[in-house]
Amino acid sequence: MRAFLLVRDDREFLCHPGEELHTDLGVVDVPEDPDRGQVVETHLGEAFTVRSLRGPDLFDHLERTGAPMMPKDIGIVVGETGAAADDRVLDAGTGTGVLAAYLGRLGADVLTFEARAEFADVARENMVLAGVEDAVEVRAGDVTEELDELGSFDLVTLDTADAPDVVARLDEHLVAGGYVAVYSPFVENARASHEAAEAAGLADVDTIETIQRAMDFDERGSRPSTRGVGHTGYLTFARKP
Ligand SMILES: C[S@@+](CC[C@H](N)C(=O)[O-])C[C@H]1O[C@@H](n2cnc3c(N)ncnc32)[C@H](O)[C@@H]1O
Repeated sequence: MRAFLLVRDDREFLCHPGEELHTDLGVVDVPEDPDRGQVVETHLGEAFTVRSLRGPDLFDHLERTGAPMMPKDIGIVVGETGAAADDRVLDAGTGTGVLAAYLGRLGADVLTFEARAEFADVARENMVLAGVEDAVEVRAGDVTEELDELGSFDLVTLDTADAPDVVARLDEHLVAGGYVAVYSPFVENARASHEAAEAAGLADVDTIETIQRAMDFDERGSRPSTRGVGHTGYLTFARKP
């Protein structure tokens, strides 16, 4: 069995079959092939439940290098582009690989480029943890240098400062109706990506800010949470006519 989680209340431990896991509630001999929902106990008799890793767990538990996209932003990418099983996807940069892993879990065939070789190494291990190493190929390299050698894709996802340079060249690398989605932490990059898509003759060019507000419900009433950050970034979409 692959890596899985041991969970109890607000505690979550990523663990590997057969290892000895040390927690603040005692030591667990991690079983080799537990069922989801199985209860395992520490040597002190404290119970944890076995859970497999799903997308949000990858965001929480993969080893971090480049700042990963948040699940809410990934959800918008999937919704706006219709990312689906058997899509051929080009992704850059890989970073932690959270977006690439989500797309791999959907059944897409993902080729992802990471400019920093040491980040690519971590991302490959993250793909194994996510169980998508057969679906997601992590290549070390600069996507702007490799692009000419690549074919066409159903979907291109970009999360790099130089995304506008890639967008400008995408006409040749998208199938008819195929989409590009650019995540930009700053509005200048979003605008440059938007303008590059228009200049490249792509259709349905659209940029949105992604804001999510959690709600607080208590005895006094209900309102958006005053904690946390609502803004994470901008998403620009376009497609080949
Ligand atoms: C913000 S992270 C991407 C996070 C990723 N979307 C995720 O969900 O985990 C950006 C990454 O892009 C890489 N990068 C920047 N420019 C690149 C390029 N031209 N080609 C490939 N990777 C690049 C950086 O090294 C960094 O690791």
